Amino acid sequence: MTQHAVERVTHVHHWNDSLFSFRTTRDPGLRFTSGQFLMIGLPAEGRPLMRAYSIASPAWAEYLEFFSIKVENGQLTSRLQHLQVGDELLVSRKPTGTLVLHDLHPGRHLYLLGTGTGLAPFISLIQDPEVLEAYDRIVVAHGVREIGDLAYAQFIERELPQHEFLGELAREKLIYQPSVTRERFRTQGRITDLIADGRLAELSGLPPLHPARDRLMICGSPAMLADTRRLLDERGFAASPRSGHPGDYVFERAFVEK
Ligand code: A2P
Repeated sequence: MTQHAVERVTHVHHWNDSLFSFRTTRDPGLRFTSGQFLMIGLPAEGRPLMRAYSIASPAWAEYLEFFSIKVENGQLTSRLQHLQVGDELLVSRKPTGTLVLHDLHPGRHLYLLGTGTGLAPFISLIQDPEVLEAYDRIVVAHGVREIGDLAYAQFIERELPQHEFLGELAREKLIYQPSVTRERFRTQGRITDLIADGRLAELSGLPPLHPARDRLMICGSPAMLADTRRLLDERGFAASPRSGHPGDYVFERAFVEK
């Protein structure tokens, strides 16, 4: 078997000048766990150029979805942003990643903390019935610079709650907490600020963060991961040390150098 499957682009959605999502066909043999990522790329002379992308689509869907930034001088995204329906995309056959349900100890509330395209793995996770059933409440915190960067807001707030099979669980459990740093918005500040001052739990109607009941998944830039981890470590949360060894939180860097 070749190293990469060749898939075809079926949808492209541009959120704004800097963010877009796209869907491709999915090899029926590809299995993955919600929250994992894949290497994707474009055919090129010699070795194809591949980058890690979190899978935003649910494990049960027949398509794959990815959420990307557009970087003018990015080696891959400068080309990816021009994808059109029908184009070919190379997709690795080996999903991997740390943002998986089974690397968290059981808990009552799950916090999914993502900045920028770090939201992507959480879009997959919140469509997984096993994840929705495992917690009483699931907070989706998306930190962005500007309101226009709040991709998937409509999906989380309106579409998923109306979903034929997942709607009931989504309505009962999901709490969307968007926050914006560079424009006026109902919640302003970095995700780390919202943790430090207790606003994240408070706005969600939940008790202050505590390792006895709360679990977290974090996906963002290296600086965001470091700052968020420091806040959690200070509060007594233990990171999952490695795959197969559960902790109170797991983290993955959003893949920004494209
Ligand atoms: P800020 O506007 O203060 O830089 P980016 O688009 O650069 O990935 O940023 C997405 C969001 O993540 C922005 O709101 C940004 O805030 C925020 N951010 C940047 N660095 C950190 C950090 N170290 N901890 C938490 N949030 C961060």
